[in-house]
Amino acid sequence: MKISVKVPATTANFGSGFDCLGMALPIYNIITIEETVLPGTGIEINVISETDDDDDFAIEHIPKDETNIIYKAVEMLYNSIGQSPSELRINIKSQIPIAKGLGSSASIIVGGLLAANELLGKPADEAALLSIATEVEGHPDNVVPAIVGGLVMTSQEHDGSIIYRKLPWPEEWHLTICIPNYEIATEIARSVLPKEVPLADATFNSRRVAMFVEALHTKDAGLMKLALQDRLHQPYRMKLVPGLQDIIDNLKHEENVIGCVLSGAGPSILVISQKNNLDRIKSIVNDTWENYNVKTDIRTLKVESNGAQILEASYL
Ligand code: HSE
Repeated sequence: MKISVKVPATTANFGSGFDCLGMALPIYNIITIEETVLPGTGIEINVISETDDDDDFAIEHIPKDETNIIYKAVEMLYNSIGQSPSELRINIKSQIPIAKGLGSSASIIVGGLLAANELLGKPADEAALLSIATEVEGHPDNVVPAIVGGLVMTSQEHDGSIIYRKLPWPEEWHLTICIPNYEIATEIARSVLPKEVPLADATFNSRRVAMFVEALHTKDAGLMKLALQDRLHQPYRMKLVPGLQDIIDNLKHEENVIGCVLSGAGPSILVISQKNNLDRIKSIVNDTWENYNVKTDIRTLKVESNGAQILEASYL
């Protein structure tokens, strides 16, 4: 039997919502898991890049054995029903740029889990899949929207269970993703964060997340502008993303720009704006990053309201 799953990219954090807010985007990975018939063949992992930019380096460094994150996810699911995975061929067709802050690893975890769950006859319900995916990824803000779609607020509770709620995104607010031509592994982007933060910074962010939810419900762009501000992760990650501060400064006074944040752990940048100033935004980001010798792939995207979908289940 062979199962394919299409999983969307995600952008996490939205500034203040560190490790909490995430949204699915219409860029996809397709993960296929096939039970191979030959005993003793073990686990085979193949990665095929379908991105426009040169992802070969990142792809070459993806482990093709049991140390791959997808295997960990699949193994946890099998173990949860007292089994172990064996003789599996896993193919990852990757359109989501790797290590760019667009949820590539989350999509692989989610795709592996959902495909394995189908292969096993669906022993895990949504809650179990959310918990396993979050445990493997380490935080829920990418894996949850990758599974359920849309914009979500997420929380991993002490018992490992996941709480999430979908939030509305105003149609008239544009999302422009600016993807630079270099990678940052999430582990590196997390290693620069402090273990403890000043209480004033924690309260700053909790006020902003409350504003974020209200700004969405009332479509209040002025409030959203404040809501996107962050003191918990972006200040520490600035040094990993040269030009980020300049881009924020250069866009600050642009008409219709609501805000500019790191997408997930970076290095991609998400610009949120109103109305049709997209060309202007693109040229400002492009020109600013050019000063740092960074080339950019800039795309304006809609929210993907669907989460991961099973594409085919063929029985051999
Ligand atoms: N919330 C996560 C982070 C998203 O900022 O590290 C990246 O995977």
